[in-house]
Amino acid sequence: MILVRSPDEWRQLRQGWADADESVGFVPTMGALHEGHLSLVRRSVAENDRTAVSVLVNPTQFDEKTDLDAYPRDLDRDREMLSAEGVDALFAPTPEAIYPDGYRYRVTEDEGSRELEGAHRPGHFDGVLTVVLKLLMLVRPDRAYFGEKDWQQLQLVRGMVDALFVDTEIVGCPIVREEDGLAMSSRNVRLDPESRRRAAEFAAALRAGGAPDEVRDRLEAAGFDLDYLESRDGRLLAAVRIGGVRLIDNVRE
Ligand code: PAJ
Repeated sequence: MILVRSPDEWRQLRQGWADADESVGFVPTMGALHEGHLSLVRRSVAENDRTAVSVLVNPTQFDEKTDLDAYPRDLDRDREMLSAEGVDALFAPTPEAIYPDGYRYRVTEDEGSRELEGAHRPGHFDGVLTVVLKLLMLVRPDRAYFGEKDWQQLQLVRGMVDALFVDTEIVGCPIVREEDGLAMSSRNVRLDPESRRRAAEFAAALRAGGAPDEVRDRLEAAGFDLDYLESRDGRLLAAVRIGGVRLIDNVRE
């Protein structure tokens, strides 16, 4: 697996794949990889001649500096995991290389991005959509893989790609969970043992089913501090704070 650091280096590698007429799958991530990320990677490796994975803790999508600073980073470990999966290239640029404009140019969505996660994290989806568009323009993949874990992100990326005529197929992949039902997330490592137990209870209460009001009553009775619990396109989406860590999850209604 090749480690690529700069956009120029990346373009050179990409040209070689284009010349050989090879199909390219792409998995954008912020690193601290787990089985959820790897499920996307495996699907890409299975469906494309070449797979590229990016690792960039994207500063523009963090609304809290403490969250950005505390975000786990371990590129050596990520690199080993990806190499073992048969990934062809790991693209790990610096934020400066991706934002030569200093984030003067950005993608804004004016409806869905203001709700749910967007209502609680101002500017979050502008940061996500901008970095995803930049990465898609650079990587030029045939297919890009996104998890249903971040349901709202997946819908907004699909909408952007349609609106801006981006020539990449967006593939949504199911949520991968721990044995006790907690959705895998890079942030889970920040949960202390008691919060980790509560986090599993949160997932169980959300997944136990019933009308949204019933689920809300169940979660509130269990003492969870909900940011939101709302239905959208046949999914029930929730965000909660447990022990200072913000977790999101969603289930089919
Ligand atoms: P990150 O949180 O690292 O997630 C990268 C991809 O992995 C996303 O598409 C996310 O939905 C998926 N993913 C994470 N946990 C998952 C799980 N338990 N099951 C299935 N898929 C899972 O999402 C981002 O990074 C960033 O916003 C990014 C798109 C890279 C833009 O910076």
